[in-house]
Amino acid sequence: MFETLKKATLDKIFVLMAEYAADPRDGKIDLGVGVYKDPKGVTPVLNSVRKAEQRILDTAKTKVYKGVVGNKEFSAAVVDLALGGVVDLKRIRCVNGAGGTGALSILMNVLSRARPGGRIFISDPSWPNHWPMAELVGLKPVYYPYFDHQTRLVDFDAMMKVVDGLTPDDTILLHGCCHNPTGANLTPAQWDIVAASLQRTGAFPLVDLAYLGFGDGLEADAYGVRKIVSSVPESMVAFSASKNFGLYRERAGVAIAIAKDSDSADVVSSQMQNVIRATISQTPDHGAEIVRIILEDMDLRAEWEAELKEMRERMQRLRVKLAEAIRQRSNSKDFDFIAEHSGMFSLLGLKPEVVEKLKLEDAVYMINDSRINVAGIPEDRVGELADKMLAAIG
Ligand SMILES: Cc1ncc(COP(=O)(O)O)c(C=O)c1O
Repeated sequence: MFETLKKATLDKIFVLMAEYAADPRDGKIDLGVGVYKDPKGVTPVLNSVRKAEQRILDTAKTKVYKGVVGNKEFSAAVVDLALGGVVDLKRIRCVNGAGGTGALSILMNVLSRARPGGRIFISDPSWPNHWPMAELVGLKPVYYPYFDHQTRLVDFDAMMKVVDGLTPDDTILLHGCCHNPTGANLTPAQWDIVAASLQRTGAFPLVDLAYLGFGDGLEADAYGVRKIVSSVPESMVAFSASKNFGLYRERAGVAIAIAKDSDSADVVSSQMQNVIRATISQTPDHGAEIVRIILEDMDLRAEWEAELKEMRERMQRLRVKLAEAIRQRSNSKDFDFIAEHSGMFSLLGLKPEVVEKLKLEDAVYMINDSRINVAGIPEDRVGELADKMLAAIG
């Protein structure tokens, strides 16, 4: 039977990770994998997380199932954190997802039940998982323009030409902040324009919020999602705690549905629960419980916010350093955009052969579309990295 199957292509990031791991060269640089790294190149367990985990160890009496909707207090704390009270809670229903991907998957499944075969507009480019996830549930993914490859900033005019033409049957997937892979983000004024457009067209927004707090701060990063959900009658938000709490493998996320009223919200909730029951039956709780404990405890929350700030400021510092090092060496502002971007990634706009050369000759690894993870930049070797990049560009 298996002979009927074709070998599926793996996400290129997994191939790159394997190549990096097998590379014996000293001083190799990993700008590929999308996880935060500290100055030692380690993806740390946050202190706030360790303390919350200890509390779970000390007090947990059972590992019994939590119920299909998952950890309700975790969901409520995340809704408060992300949406900040801009929508009446009576209109909101949540279920836990296995990470942000799990949350997206639940929401897309419900979307496809509501509008089978419906179009879902995805930014060009986007996180490579968005497109196949939409296809898997039978939605029809379509690109909307997003990135200006000359300026390496958002091509807002091109984006709005498509967004303004959406219909009430269309869905648009928006990155809430810290766009992956480009690092180029909408300004508050641009979010206002997108929200007004959705109000006008009636298109349905699904916001992917995987990096809250990694860009300009928790409040600033929440501007877009709050603007969108408070402007339209119905929307969805997929929240991930993987990056901002450093909980990657624990798979903590929340699928948030915002309906026009409480009765409609109950229907959406029943659909989300039905999807969970038919797929994984129960969602994981360890990461969810960690986040709940942190967000509900004033001291732990303050400690987490300080740790999040440290991660964010380190990435901002590395951006400025790399942009400055390239400017000094090349006497051009061509890479200043790195400092203007925010979040964990920047799309450098290098040709694939330059990316390949950097890997083969200099052991500098990045995704072949030239996305870099700025947290992977070794702070004491920024000049060396700039030299290598400029030499490879030629
Ligand atoms: C844009 C975007 N959305 C969602 C996710 C999902 O993250 P996770 O499933 O690990 O929580 C990621 C992770 O890389 C991402 O970059």
